[in-house]
Amino acid sequence: MHATGELLAAAAAARLITRLVDAQAAYGVASVVLTGGRTGIAVLEQVRDSPARDAVDWANVEVFWGDERFLPNGHPDRNETQARRALLDHVGISPERVHAMAPSGGRFDDDADAAAAHYAEVLAATAEHSTDIAVPHFDVLLLGVGEEGHTASLFPDTPYVQETERTVVGVHDCPKPPPTRVSLTLPAIQAADEVWLMTTGAAKAKPVAAALGGAKPVDIPAAGARGRHRTLWLLDAEAASALPTGS
Ligand code: 6PG
Repeated sequence: MHATGELLAAAAAARLITRLVDAQAAYGVASVVLTGGRTGIAVLEQVRDSPARDAVDWANVEVFWGDERFLPNGHPDRNETQARRALLDHVGISPERVHAMAPSGGRFDDDADAAAAHYAEVLAATAEHSTDIAVPHFDVLLLGVGEEGHTASLFPDTPYVQETERTVVGVHDCPKPPPTRVSLTLPAIQAADEVWLMTTGAAKAKPVAAALGGAKPVDIPAAGARGRHRTLWLLDAEAASALPTGS
């Protein structure tokens, strides 16, 4: 738990740099799954501004997204646009290693389900054959948490949070605008080595406490976001304020 949102973002950025450096030491290439939202983007900005930033060999980082707002290419609200402005345009990332989810109005026109199916094929094409799900090795998968417990673009009481087969889904009628999105499903999220849920502010205290208190993913999707080897909750004091003392 960190005193303020600013400190949370800076601490998460420092952790992320270290995690990527360690993954590259072990595997040569590190893979990260990015998220949208204020906190997720603030962490990328802190990475950009970190003096340790270029300890990461950015040319050997694979970048994926956990979800995307289904908007035209370059739209300022797209998670990809915001990640490029916050970090990717400032480091020597290899373009062929940046795997963005398709925009609307492109090759899939306005068909988010087709865009989702294509992203599932992208993940399958780079999947490790050692795992039982068709996604590549994700060293760290970043997530935010919504006020009603959503994570990525998986919202409570929807068929998407209950998906057990597909790795990527087109999401419709989202309560958080824009209404149409593309999202990894919980099985895909759970395939990551590490899942980091990062959130700040008093409005997130209830869903954070519910998720850590045993809520069902259908009710609090963030409760289903677990890594194979590690699940980290990176919170500021306000977001942690409803947790039992001593958590
Ligand atoms: C999105 C995000 C979403 C976000 C949460 C938290 O595309 O909007 O993927 O899951 O992370 O809504 O957003 P804030 O950090 O802005 O509260």
